[in-house]
Amino acid sequence: FRFAKPINEPVKSYAPGTAEKIALKQMLGQLSSEQWDIPLIIGGKEIRTGDTGKVVMPHNHKHVLATYHKAGPKEVQMAIDAAVKAQKEWSDLPWVERASVMMRIAELISTKYRYAVNASVMLGQSKNPMQAEIDAPCELIDFLRFSAFYAGQIYADQPYSDTGILNRMEYRALEGFVFTLTPFNFTSIASNLNLAPAMMGNTAVWKPSTTAIYSNYILMKIFHEAGLPDGVVNFIPGQGSVIGKVVTQSPDLAGFHFTGSTGTFNTLWRAIGENLGTYKSYPRIVGETGGKNFIFVHASAPAEDVATAIVRGAFEYQGQKCSAASRAYIPSCLWANVKERVGAMLQSIRMGDVTDFTNFVNAVIDEASFDNIMDYINYAKQSPDATVLFGGNGDKTEGYYIEPTVIVTTDPTFKTMTEEIFGPVITIYVYDESQYEETLALCDRTSPYGLTGSIFARDRYAIDKAFKLLRYSAGNFYINDKPTGAVIAQQPFGGSRASGTNDKAGGPLNLVRWTNPRTIKETY
Ligand code: ALA
Repeated sequence: FRFAKPINEPVKSYAPGTAEKIALKQMLGQLSSEQWDIPLIIGGKEIRTGDTGKVVMPHNHKHVLATYHKAGPKEVQMAIDAAVKAQKEWSDLPWVERASVMMRIAELISTKYRYAVNASVMLGQSKNPMQAEIDAPCELIDFLRFSAFYAGQIYADQPYSDTGILNRMEYRALEGFVFTLTPFNFTSIASNLNLAPAMMGNTAVWKPSTTAIYSNYILMKIFHEAGLPDGVVNFIPGQGSVIGKVVTQSPDLAGFHFTGSTGTFNTLWRAIGENLGTYKSYPRIVGETGGKNFIFVHASAPAEDVATAIVRGAFEYQGQKCSAASRAYIPSCLWANVKERVGAMLQSIRMGDVTDFTNFVNAVIDEASFDNIMDYINYAKQSPDATVLFGGNGDKTEGYYIEPTVIVTTDPTFKTMTEEIFGPVITIYVYDESQYEETLALCDRTSPYGLTGSIFARDRYAIDKAFKLLRYSAGNFYINDKPTGAVIAQQPFGGSRASGTNDKAGGPLNLVRWTNPRTIKETY
């Protein structure tokens, strides 16, 4: 049995006057008027520890959306026990039964909870309606439907059997639980970090990002309503160091599924390394981490396309996509034209609250992030090697707002050209077009990352050169397009170097990592 190949979930526009816009507005009003008390969910049971924190809206940080309870070491161990207990029955189910649960979750999100999911991401993570729409609901629905489809292909992939024997491959789940540490910037990714392993029969202990607890909790409730059995995913918000310590010392740790910063991934990987010998198996480690994604422009490129890619690639969701463009290399012959167009586009862009759908730019996620981004901008303002060309101002009195900021530098190794900022900031290096190949080589060695990148050119030889000289600079490489917005099953996503293990989220490569195959030979 195999599922038919799905199509990507159609994206709603929320254009003025549409019924979907009215429905979403109503939902935003309803959710903002409530204040929730978010528990841990362990083995299907709600647990309130009384050690609480607050969830606020980034664009209006006096508005408290919810209180949440934090897990202590005791609750972390309870979550591990619940995951281990749930695993046998869950992994023993025929795979189509698990796939049915995934399809049911997708269906509930697509229909009954579409506006609630979208609105929760808008309010809790400050995304505009379109950015929320392409995250959760749509990308999450795609993750689920395509996982079910790819799982069918994986389970059907069986070894060759010679005469008189039958060879089989049993794609067992991992022996133990998977620890998932998930990011704020995509609720789809946060959910999928749990559900991809679950599709393959695993159970998870989920520590959501503190700044995405609100939407993540709504999703957790939907998983259960769709029939995900108790204990398959255990939701434990709390402090990363407290939770990480208990899970990395558990003999039952069988996998670690991560999206977030390179530093945190390295810390967890080291902790797992230190505890090797405690575990029953070598834990599977799959992670997507940082990036310093580039737009590289050849002299043959159309300036208009480049300008659009800079504005959309660097400033959609305030530059907080792991894929966001944060450095650009522009040939001097095109620079005046590109600069003028970027300036004109930025003038027409509006910044503000998510509930005004005409705002393209909303707030960055929290105060720590705001301060960190502003430090980079202020560093550039004070440096003789850089100029802040557009934007550069921030205001955190009501919400964590930072203007889309364009820095130009004469030093290709300038701090904002090399370090990940994770905010609405792009740095541009204008190069002499006679130095195309040398500058490509420079781009390749300027950052330790390898996540996404774009080449803009009409000249086919120039594209081919970029392809070769930037071989490992980007796991997702775009020709004449911005480096963001990978679509599930169309552009499998992930990079290498300091950007992660490149197991391509949402695809068969990733799903296979959550299996522990047993080869069986039978003779007749
Ligand atoms: N998958 C997301 C993108 O490509 C991160 O923008």
